Amino acid sequence: MQDHLIIFDTTLRDGEQSPGASMTKEEKVRIARQLERMGVDVIEAGFPAASNGDFDAVKAVADTIQDSMVCGLARAIEVDIRRAGEALQGAEAARIHTFIATSPVHMKKKLRMSPDQVVDQAVKAIKWARQYTDNVEFSPEDAGRSEIDFLCRILEAVIDAGAKTLNIPDTVGYTMPAQFGSLIRTLRERIPNSDKVIFSVHCHNDLGLAVANSLSAVANGARQVECTVNGLGERAGNAALEEVVMAVRTRQDFFSCETRIDTKHIVPASKLVSSITGFPVQPNKAIVGANAFAHESGIHQDGVLKHRETYEIMRAEDVGWGANKLLLGKHSGRNAFRSRLMALGIQLESEEMLNHTFLRFKELADKKHEIFDEDLHALISDEVLVPQERYRLVSLIVHCETGETPYAHIVIAEEGKELRAESEGSGPVDATFRAIEKILTSGTELQLFSVNNITTGTDSQGEVTVRLQKAGRIVNGQGADTDIVVASAKAYLSALNKLHSKLEKAHPQV
Ligand code: KIV
Ligand code: ZN
Repeated sequence: MQDHLIIFDTTLRDGEQSPGASMTKEEKVRIARQLERMGVDVIEAGFPAASNGDFDAVKAVADTIQDSMVCGLARAIEVDIRRAGEALQGAEAARIHTFIATSPVHMKKKLRMSPDQVVDQAVKAIKWARQYTDNVEFSPEDAGRSEIDFLCRILEAVIDAGAKTLNIPDTVGYTMPAQFGSLIRTLRERIPNSDKVIFSVHCHNDLGLAVANSLSAVANGARQVECTVNGLGERAGNAALEEVVMAVRTRQDFFSCETRIDTKHIVPASKLVSSITGFPVQPNKAIVGANAFAHESGIHQDGVLKHRETYEIMRAEDVGWGANKLLLGKHSGRNAFRSRLMALGIQLESEEMLNHTFLRFKELADKKHEIFDEDLHALISDEVLVPQERYRLVSLIVHCETGETPYAHIVIAEEGKELRAESEGSGPVDATFRAIEKILTSGTELQLFSVNNITTGTDSQGEVTVRLQKAGRIVNGQGADTDIVVASAKAYLSALNKLHSKLEKAHPQV
């Protein structure tokens, strides 16, 4: 019998630490539902001590999710652990994940603590956490650059204090696969009480090795991998969930473990995370990139047509490609609409909200005959889950003609009051953004503007991401519409709304 490899998803915590990827409570719950549907074992929902907003989001996920364990991150200090314990109170199954840095550079320069003090603090943290749950995970932050003797010492002490999972993070993405695998093996062999815990790994991708390091650890006995959808995460990101899961599944001849992930939910999860965070997936990204299963060369196409295994080691449909079947159209009724939303894990709070969204769905179905799941997700993001928006697009007129300067006239509602402006620009989007700035003079710097089609075909909705920066804060705004200039205006206003609404939050590792 194969061992079980625990999939611990940290999209909602480490993933959210990517600049601009912060999510609202509703967005987190939506992603958590998709992770639960996919069969993720543990969902790290956030860092409750970061802010009241984070606390509420972790609590909302804990109160909603039934089939996955919900975890909250806490530094090894009492107040953080208390916040995590409180946020997780309603969870069907809860875990507290506490951590403290163990590398010489982190202990000396960041914590300004001696190794003895760090061990003492870690042991206390496990004891505080166990007042809330028996399911406690401990991470020696920057383990990849920690001294092996010290790691063995602190890990033995936290096991004695009651930690059930030891997570070994390569916090700065420094280690090499063979080295990281051997680290896991050495820890398992040298720590006398190591048989009482599950070894986990958490790898960052600074050298592009997060997945390779995680898999090397699995081959050496790790039985939990911490990962994120699309590899989202701090800096270059974390190990990509879809790559870890598919490697283990595709190479069952190599790995002596298996996950319980229902892989056909992988692509929908990838699209949902990309659309909510505004981080597009590169086309050549393994498993979830648009080209991951596209065979361009004649020789490859010929081979695949004769026998697909000539060039394919996985089947596109097994990871959810093509699962976005056309389900709704302009003649679909309210009940069909409601049940499709429910199947996607979207529950609208009231009948009034359902009616409003249904009307918007009908408008979209008039413009675009085939409505896919991705369209519904975009519609919900656009129309329903917008945090108390301060600015809203009322109308937009754009004029473009060959040889003429593009021009935009926009009307925005700011807390109910209509404001209008017009502007020229180098193109229709530029004219629109300039018109918005004439009204709002936000003082922000545009860092990114990207357009993706949500589904295929020229009648597809365009999904626009706008990244704005102001005084060190970075936010991503999204907008979707069949008209990409309208989508761009919505995305710009969504980013401004986020700049307005988000409270500052603490970063766990700073
Ligand atoms: O990268 C890291 O070390 C972390 C820890 C908090 C586990 O994210
Ligand atoms: Zn991390």
